[in-house]
Amino acid sequence: MPVVPTREILARAFAERYGVAAINVVNDLTMEAVLAAAEELRAPIIVQTSVKHVLMTGVDVMYAMWEAMTARLTVPAALHLDHCPDRTVITACLERGWNSVLFDASKLSVEENQRQCIEVVAEARRHGADVEGEIEGFKRTEEMTGDEAREVQSLETVVAFVRATDVDVFAPAIGNAHGTYRSAPTLDAQRVTDIVAATGKPVALHGGTGMAPAQFSDLIARGCAKVNISTALKIAFIRSGSDHVAGHPDEFDPPKLFTAQRAAVMEMARSHIRLFGSEGKAW
Ligand code: 13P
Repeated sequence: MPVVPTREILARAFAERYGVAAINVVNDLTMEAVLAAAEELRAPIIVQTSVKHVLMTGVDVMYAMWEAMTARLTVPAALHLDHCPDRTVITACLERGWNSVLFDASKLSVEENQRQCIEVVAEARRHGADVEGEIEGFKRTEEMTGDEAREVQSLETVVAFVRATDVDVFAPAIGNAHGTYRSAPTLDAQRVTDIVAATGKPVALHGGTGMAPAQFSDLIARGCAKVNISTALKIAFIRSGSDHVAGHPDEFDPPKLFTAQRAAVMEMARSHIRLFGSEGKAW
């Protein structure tokens, strides 16, 4: 039973209070390495694809890679479309077989976001797929001002959005951002507790790269069942590649370069799976 609904992966993690690593991959090598790490550690896994990489690779090729790579997988895995404001890309991925999508209408008003998100949830359900919702948007770490905690919507607005849309998982802003933090960020963990208590739904933790191990454990215990990691994969992939090239300046053997990159990405994925408590949680 390799590919399962995202909702099912998150329901178990939420009930048992462990985190599922939701790792953004950038190509075939990184998709295979993340799946191999999950298989080795017997961990459920969510493979995330950004709009940019889906369009660059093509929906059909990306999905063909996923189908081929999960055909013999024995741990639960789901394919997720990360932050997507474009309804045509959402439709293309849902029609092709993605298990879930993050409809990112955070640049629209909450009312318009909610109106469209209700449509996206209905569309996803027709395909047996799930939806992540957000209403606040996430900055890049370099854009942070320290005022992020004041830029969030009220709990009432979040609860009304989650109830009206019936999204499966909600991604709140809690002082987190995408990229590399200068130091571990100050996070509003209580907001996660409040949202989980009021909605009864799992929370997606964005901006995972660079958070402290104690922050992960605390937030996962509060209900962050989906823990997003993207920048750490890009760092592992690019650093291992450039280190390999620097160490072998006269070697022109791509498989050796790819082997070094696969090992680095696998190790990055392993360390996060262990940190999030999902090792051995495959069923
Ligand atoms: P990082 O790039 O900070 O790990 O964030 C990942 C993420 O939240 C993807 O949506």
